[in-house]
Amino acid sequence: MERRTLLTLVVHGGSVLVGVVVGLPALIAGVFPALRRRRGESWRPVGQLSQFPVGQTQAAVIEHEQADESEPRPLARQGVYVWRPTDEEVVVFSRSCTDLGCPVIWDAGSQCFYCPCHGGIFARDGQRMAGPPDRELHRYVNRVREGVLEVDVYSVPPIA
Ligand code: FES
Repeated sequence: MERRTLLTLVVHGGSVLVGVVVGLPALIAGVFPALRRRRGESWRPVGQLSQFPVGQTQAAVIEHEQADESEPRPLARQGVYVWRPTDEEVVVFSRSCTDLGCPVIWDAGSQCFYCPCHGGIFARDGQRMAGPPDRELHRYVNRVREGVLEVDVYSVPPIA
C-alpha cells in the first residue's frame, strides 16, 4: 500500500470516528428526548413539610415548569399523596395505579388506596393488596430543604 493511500485512509477514518463520537449523543438526545430528560433530576416543591402531619396521608400537588421551550409541555399539575409514618420519614406516592395508570384515591376510613378503574387496592404503605396491579405504588425520591418538601419528578416512571 502506498504511503499516500495509507495517509488518506487514516485521515478519513479519524474523521468518521470523531463524527460518531461527537454526533451520536446529540442524535440520541434529538430522536429520543424522553431518554435525555430521565437521566437527570428535576426537583419540584410539594409544600411545607409542616403542612403534612405525622401519621397521616394527604393529597398534594406538584406544579411543573417547562424546563426548555423546545420540549413538549408536561402536565402543569400532578397529584401525589404524602404519607409521614414518623417525624423523620416522608413518603411521596405517585397517584398512578401500577396497573394501567388510573389515579388512585386515598380512603382515610379504611386506610387504603383504591383504584376506580379495575378495583386495585393498595395498603397505606403503598403495597399491593388486591386486584390487577402486580406491584406497589411508585414512590418519588424526596428531600426537605429549608422546611420545604421536594420531589424528583423523574424518579418515577413517566406514566406515574
Ligand atoms: S388501572 Fe388500577 S386496577 Fe387497573
